[in-house]
Amino acid sequence: MKNTLDAIRDRRSCRAYLPNMITNDELSKILDAAFLSPSAKNMQRRHLTVITNQAYLDELNIKICAKIDCDPHEYHVFYHAPVVVALSSLKGDRWCREDMGIMIENICLAAESMDIGSVILGLPQRYFETKEATEDIKKMGAPEDYEPILFVSLGYKAQKDIPAKPRDTKRISYIK
Ligand SMILES: Cc1cc2nc3c(=O)[nH]c(=O)nc-3n(C[C@H](O)[C@H](O)[C@H](O)COP(=O)(O)O)c2cc1C
Repeated sequence: MKNTLDAIRDRRSCRAYLPNMITNDELSKILDAAFLSPSAKNMQRRHLTVITNQAYLDELNIKICAKIDCDPHEYHVFYHAPVVVALSSLKGDRWCREDMGIMIENICLAAESMDIGSVILGLPQRYFETKEATEDIKKMGAPEDYEPILFVSLGYKAQKDIPAKPRDTKRISYIK
């Protein structure tokens, strides 16, 4: 298992996965890490939906692609990952996006610490923010007033040694 700084350094958005499912132990460690993330005022307004049903992910892909003008036969929003986790929070909550951002990074780093690939997905929002998504939102199993904010694909990497995208580390100033 990688230490925290190594996992932060090595994590990349993984967009190609092996079809085999990660183990229950790996998944449960990732989900534990997610729930260990902090939340504003410790309100814990969050719900995770673990989706392994590939037929359902393909269905969602078609609906999302329709909103982003993509051909679902050429682009798979979830990159055919064996497991996708949807992160839902209370609609309109002041801190929900911050909470979801922190939670999802815990997921990605926990995954990377076990050499499991991940990619954060904001594109599904384009479908889930429309009225057409009502039934799919219900399907997420979250409380009624929650909505999916972010998704994350997870699985064993089919693509390794993806170079890091350059970061502008000069965007920093100090007040001493
Ligand atoms: C809020 C958010 C939404 C994102 N949505 C998508 C997405 O829908 N599809 C995708 O392929 N990557 C998505 N990404 C991944 C970014 O493109 C990626 O993190 C960025 O290019 C930096 O690359 P790295 O993750 O390999 O360091 C998203 C990242 C964030 C933080």
